[in-house]
Amino acid sequence: MTKERLSPTQEADWLRAAIARHDHLYYVQARPEISDSEYDDLFRRLRTLEAEHPELADPSSPTQRIGDALTAGFATVRHPFPLISLDNSYDEADIRAFHKRVADGLEGRSVSYICELKFDGVAVILKYVGGRFVQGATRGDGEQGDDVTLNLRTIRTLPLRVVPARTAAIDPIFYVRGEVYLNKHDFSRYNAERDAVGEKPFANPRNFAAGSLKILDPRVVAQRPLSIVCYGYDNQQPAVDDTHWRSMQRLGSLGFPVSEHVCRVDSIDAVISYWRDWQERRDELPFEIDGVVVKVDRYVDQRTLGSTARAPRWAIAYKFAARRAQTRLIEISLQVGRTGVLTPVAELDPVPLGGVTIRRATLHNFEEIQRLDVRIGDVVTLERGGDVIPKITGVELSERKPQAQPYRIPESCPSCGARLVRDEGMVGVRCPNPSDPEIVKRRIEHFASRGAMDIAGLGSETVNVLVDRGLVADLGDLYGLKPESLLELEGFAEKSAVALVAGIDRSRDRSLPRLVFGLGIRFVGEETARMLATRLGSLDRIAAATEAELTEIPEVGPRVAQAIREYFDSATSRAVLRKLHQAGVAGKSADAVAVSDHLAGKSFVLTGGLSTMTREAAEAAVIAAGGKTSSSVSKKTSYVVAGESPGSKLAKARELGVTVLSEAEFVALLSGE
Ligand code: IVH
Repeated sequence: MTKERLSPTQEADWLRAAIARHDHLYYVQARPEISDSEYDDLFRRLRTLEAEHPELADPSSPTQRIGDALTAGFATVRHPFPLISLDNSYDEADIRAFHKRVADGLEGRSVSYICELKFDGVAVILKYVGGRFVQGATRGDGEQGDDVTLNLRTIRTLPLRVVPARTAAIDPIFYVRGEVYLNKHDFSRYNAERDAVGEKPFANPRNFAAGSLKILDPRVVAQRPLSIVCYGYDNQQPAVDDTHWRSMQRLGSLGFPVSEHVCRVDSIDAVISYWRDWQERRDELPFEIDGVVVKVDRYVDQRTLGSTARAPRWAIAYKFAARRAQTRLIEISLQVGRTGVLTPVAELDPVPLGGVTIRRATLHNFEEIQRLDVRIGDVVTLERGGDVIPKITGVELSERKPQAQPYRIPESCPSCGARLVRDEGMVGVRCPNPSDPEIVKRRIEHFASRGAMDIAGLGSETVNVLVDRGLVADLGDLYGLKPESLLELEGFAEKSAVALVAGIDRSRDRSLPRLVFGLGIRFVGEETARMLATRLGSLDRIAAATEAELTEIPEVGPRVAQAIREYFDSATSRAVLRKLHQAGVAGKSADAVAVSDHLAGKSFVLTGGLSTMTREAAEAAVIAAGGKTSSSVSKKTSYVVAGESPGSKLAKARELGVTVLSEAEFVALLSGE
């Protein structure tokens, strides 16, 4: 059959079916069969045909996805039957109790369960008449919801028309329940764009989906990357299927987007494994889920079990530990970091979240407070993502107290009262007083940390006590500590006092890069410290280098050079350095190496053991030749040096096509051959 011989009606039908099929292949199955331009041709032809033959107008045509009717508000839809929700369970005991109720209700007959993901979106009900999508509504209160047909039509994965050839076995009128949601990466992309144009980002994908469905102009909704997933017929189960499993398969074959993670199991233990598995793996999914849903498979069993007014007895939501919670912001406190930068911290009404009680959450910086417009006394939304650190993602404006005032950035330091400064081009607000006790404490803590001088037993608690009791006023004082004076402090016994002094003592021999990093010079991280140490060789030479000399070193820009000079020029630092010098802390230099620039711009990753030098020596040699070292392989890596028994970095290098050097080749390259 060629298109040319078709009547306009037949051709329109043909085009609509073809477009629906290609939409499904593209949006649901992600395996398109035709190019975008071929698709556009089909679409354009249909549009022309409909324009030429107004009698062909059909609201289920793909050309009608983006209607241009701007509604004044949404009509209320009274649902034909109550849209009940699900009861929740949170742990194994709950789910076993559910199973017991089911087993009792079915008088011990064997039961199969369908396990599904619980999508975290907005519930909708879709009505199909004669295979056409005629109405879609939000669940609302279960009795009535909003008519959001036009907005739902814009979602490309929603079938507007169920292909007639396959509808033989469906009812003339049927309802499908589903969830409108948003993929996580679409969410971040959309939010980033909003942020860039100064609009307030959405707190989470669920709010985004809910907010989008409430937009009155479908053209705007069409711009939003919404998705929908269907999880079952409602109420009027098609007579042809006798299990939920079969009808899910049917929905899929009719072109409805259904989850690929639906699973049929025969025991409650298997249900628990499914739950446990997804609780672990939820971050692998491109969308958010907040648990799993368990449903009795056979419809006859579902009918036997029946429902309460609220929820079916044949299904239950088995939730994950919450990652989102709401609580009240009691106060915003300020933390002073080692560089003096102030970090605002939210003090919260304690709330359980993901298995722990949250009392505080970082607000990162003052921009963040302004962006969220969070005010003291507000009810805020807290989220814990894949990482464990909770963050505040939104404010419940409806609960804001009328007297709540916008947050004002403080002008003086909460710890020492100094007037705060804001450096040009930097987000942070900073206390400029180097003797501020908080800054001193954090600097000492940094000095003692693993990557720096690595002083065992000198954690933040101990540092706080030492500074508060006046035993230490700066880093230099550490080396003058005596076990006797520590013994007077709370929490110190003879053994721990001796151990701490011994630990401090041992740190005198740490290498120059560690010492330079430990000083806590602004912008000087481990990498830059190593670079400075290798290129200049001693602390005295680093201290004496001019800004011009410093900027000649790879990785040291004008901003870093200036910060280094500022550090060595300040009276406070000079006093510290003098004390360190007197205590014999100078930073052990690696053997003097010839400095050149022949590896400038080249980055190296070392893997496996080298036979002619230590790892540290190899790194120093790369830096001395103007190159850089890194611990992970990326496309930007110039060379991977593979020594004895190399690790996975070698495989990664091969995968990315990065040049791999043997030890001999590496040595040759270092010596400039
Ligand atoms: S079945 C009568 N299946 O969770 C049973 N619901 O907390 C109807 N949800 O209102 C619901 N994923 O919005 C079902 N696979 C799934 C689901 C799911 C998400 C939502 C739905 C429901 C809510 C109940």
